[in-house]
Amino acid sequence: MALLETRGLCSHYGDLQALFDLSLGLEEGAVTALIGANGAGKSTLIQLLCGLQPASRGEVFYEGRPVQGLGAERMARLGVAVVPEGRLLFPSLNVEENLRMGAHCGRRGPWALDSVYALFPVLREFRLRPATSLSGGQQQMVSIGRALMANPRLLLCDELSLGLAPVVIEQIYRSLAQLRDQGLSMLIVEQDVGRACRLADRVHCLLKGRLTLSGAPEGLSPERIAQAYFGV
Ligand SMILES: Nc1ncnc2c1ncn2[C@@H]1O[C@H](COP(=O)(O)OP(=O)(O)OP(=O)(O)O)[C@@H](O)[C@H]1O
Ligand SMILES: [Mg+2]
Repeated sequence: MALLETRGLCSHYGDLQALFDLSLGLEEGAVTALIGANGAGKSTLIQLLCGLQPASRGEVFYEGRPVQGLGAERMARLGVAVVPEGRLLFPSLNVEENLRMGAHCGRRGPWALDSVYALFPVLREFRLRPATSLSGGQQQMVSIGRALMANPRLLLCDELSLGLAPVVIEQIYRSLAQLRDQGLSMLIVEQDVGRACRLADRVHCLLKGRLTLSGAPEGLSPERIAQAYFGV
């Protein structure tokens, strides 16, 4: 059984349909990559899965139970945490206060300030600085750390590497590999297909709101991926 499964999921923004009939599963303990061009619907799917947006049709099952429409608060309590596109840190709070915000859903587990600081040592050094005064990469670490503070069973990450220097992206992906090796289930939205394929056990591609490809990365040729990504 998949940890999370969608069946026939549709999403609309007014008259615009952003997702069409999406059925996919996220396996427990696996890293799943979600790829696709700008506007493909990746962030919309992330928002549906963490309860920030309702679907217009279809179902979401988490741990075998229907959760569609539960809302973000309850999804967080069930163990679904998100690192949102654009990080969305609280600008009036320092690093440590931002991290603590992640813990308010009250789940127990291995993640607390000390374990987040062990994963990202630079954050301990800057713990009392306003979070948004940090560099882009460090802010992304705060955003990941805040999500981990919720002790998630499933971590959803939307475009972690956007706008970051290659050396910082490498560092962040090394941390994700550490989380994967600890058995955390993840869904990673990533524009860099090569990077996504190196980390992930499974890849899904969206094109204009439709699923065009699903498979293990080693079985997918560059031509097949390009076709699913661009529709050519
Ligand atoms: N708040 C909104 N109101 C109206 N339309 C929206 C809204 N958010 C997204 N859309 C539209 O829904 C579609 C999917 O957008 P979404 O942001 O999910 O794509 P994405 O794959 O995350 O793109 P990107 O790679 O640019 O982040 C696009 O056509 C987009 O213009
Ligand atoms: Mg997006």
